[in-house]
Amino acid sequence: MLPRHQPASPHRPCPALNPPAPSDSIARFSPTPVPRIRHHVNPLRVQFLETGAEPVALPAAGDVEVELGCADALFLFERAPARPRVSFVGVEIREELVRDVNERAAAAGLANLRAVFANANTELDTLFADGRLARVYVNFPDPWFKRRHRKRRVMNADLARAIHRKLAPAGELFFQSDIFDLALDAMAVIEASGRFENVRGPWSFLVDNPYGARSLREVRCEEKGMRIWRMLYRRVDGEAGAPGEEESAAEGVDE
Ligand SMILES: C[S@@+](CC[C@H](N)C(=O)[O-])C[C@H]1O[C@@H](n2cnc3c(N)ncnc32)[C@H](O)[C@@H]1O
Repeated sequence: MLPRHQPASPHRPCPALNPPAPSDSIARFSPTPVPRIRHHVNPLRVQFLETGAEPVALPAAGDVEVELGCADALFLFERAPARPRVSFVGVEIREELVRDVNERAAAAGLANLRAVFANANTELDTLFADGRLARVYVNFPDPWFKRRHRKRRVMNADLARAIHRKLAPAGELFFQSDIFDLALDAMAVIEASGRFENVRGPWSFLVDNPYGARSLREVRCEEKGMRIWRMLYRRVDGEAGAPGEEESAAEGVDE
């Protein structure tokens, strides 16, 4: 059964760009001053389909956790210090943010955290070997509300397939958003793929974030008392792909 419909909340630009006064953890890990960066990048523009990304150098062993669309990577900065044997990689399409994350990781002495400039929708195969990732996070992706812009939404059938390939057996896919329609859209894609098991049961949201780390947008939403729609999936193998899956794949390229 589908979850009950909730009205979409108005989406504001990614708070990593113009944050209000920082809370404790943000003050520790966020950039000051905040770099001046454009709000949205269209991931389907030809110039962003291939950014020149290269394979990420990773230790031969040890878990790898990846946030797609990490922006300032607060979520990874909160996870990395207590887990030195785990490699944390933020994939981000805005190059200025990538530079900034890497400078702050170096300044904080976090050798296990880095960001890479890449398009999550087209370059995961370049970045990571199949089966190498323990966890993939998609935290508060850009909403692209207008109908004609929906194909720019990051979570589509192609990405679900790519994430499945990159995850180790039983690897985790975590998605969260404060916009119900967007979360439901992502849930439909992931459930229809037949490649993941919803940890809470089919078509179910998770109430809490189980990772002990919060992204900047998550912090801001919680400060405002906004509802957050979360899903946790595990990679499953066997008969992959459900009828109709191909139809929800992103179409076209924006010139
Ligand atoms: C709304 S922000 C959320 C940032 C962070 N995850 C958070 O929760 O605070 C979405 C981020 O995803 C990035 N992004 C959008 N499409 C992308 C893509 N195809 N590949 C990589 N990053 C992308 C945007 O540049 C932006 O920084």
